[in-house]
Amino acid sequence: VRARLRSRLEEQERLAARAATELDAARSEAQRLREVLEAVPLGVVFHDPESGEVFRNEKSSSPTDDMQADVLVTREVAQLMSGAATDTRHQTVELHGPPRRFLELTVKPLVSGGAVVLIEDASARRHLEQVRRDFVDNVSHELRTPIGALGVLAEALEGETDPAVITRLVSRMSGEVQRAHALIEDLLELSKIERTTPGERAPVDIAEAVSAAVQRVRPLAERSGVRVDVASVEAGVLVRANREELVSAVANLVDNAVKYSDEGSSVDVRVDVGATAGTVDIVVLDHGVGIPARDHDRIFERFYRVDRARDRRTGGSGLGLAIVRHVALNHGGEVLVSSVEGEGSTFTLRLPAGEGSAP
Ligand SMILES: Nc1ncnc2c1ncn2[C@@H]1O[C@H](COP(=O)(O)OP(=O)(O)OP(=O)(O)O)[C@@H](O)[C@H]1O
Ligand SMILES: [Mg+2]
Repeated sequence: VRARLRSRLEEQERLAARAATELDAARSEAQRLREVLEAVPLGVVFHDPESGEVFRNEKSSSPTDDMQADVLVTREVAQLMSGAATDTRHQTVELHGPPRRFLELTVKPLVSGGAVVLIEDASARRHLEQVRRDFVDNVSHELRTPIGALGVLAEALEGETDPAVITRLVSRMSGEVQRAHALIEDLLELSKIERTTPGERAPVDIAEAVSAAVQRVRPLAERSGVRVDVASVEAGVLVRANREELVSAVANLVDNAVKYSDEGSSVDVRVDVGATAGTVDIVVLDHGVGIPARDHDRIFERFYRVDRARDRRTGGSGLGLAIVRHVALNHGGEVLVSSVEGEGSTFTLRLPAGEGSAP
């Protein structure tokens, strides 16, 4: 009898030990799953119908970093959890902000009972989609104008015998071709600049880069009767830059200064070393039409123009300043504007000073 009892006891002890081991394993498994839930970039809320408990990862408690918005989202989630989920459903919560945000909620029934709600901040994705749509719209619109005009001009040319009319039509066609060509060049340049990595920089002589940029705009300046004065830059001032990008940025600023000035006006270009510590400023100043204060932030957006009617004449596509801003950002710098409508504008391309530029 005793032997039987002992063996029963041993059997019980073995079972208890096994249960303890299994419990430990289950605990560490649960712990691991909790860590995984914290690591995912989604808010996860899960209701266990058996225990009646609600589990949520940290992200789900503050999905937006905005207390008021978080309360709203939490309320939506609670509502979703309270209904019996039979199949996967999606819902978008739009927060008007600013900034405007979109949170996508997904409820998914679980095979083991209950349901899980996933909360995803889709704002950045939505914004990107919008930017892409706008971009394609803008490019199509900008190209349609010159190409439509070319069609009309070609039709007018057909059967025309008067040499004077032919010359005029051909010259207008050539203008439209230039317009389409400039747009495509700007687009290619912008996409190239958006792609370059900081690695492709070398010490660049500022005086040489500025002079090359001004050289590019000379023909336009001469045609427009605008004088471009470059203050002499001390030799040997260097910045770490991608030369091609830098020249392009400065040329775009000078191009604008000339384009938005009247005949007989002048544009000043100068370089300020260390105007603020550790920086080099390239300053382009004009006495042209100026920019209304409400547009100062927006002019750097792709395709944004202050006055479309006015710029149709000058033929800009609104990409120049987007290129300038990108170049500034690529170089760890910035571009500043100060302008008064009717008086003129000053654009400053501010770059971190490189070797050789310390005053
Ligand atoms: N120096 C300036 N004076 C007055 N307005 C300016 C000046 N520079 C820019 N702007 C305004 O900002 C807008 C955006 O400039 P941006 O250089 O991006 O485009 P754009 O000159 O119209 O076309 P693009 O440079 O692509 O040929 C211009 O259309 C113009 O309205
Ligand atoms: Mg421009």
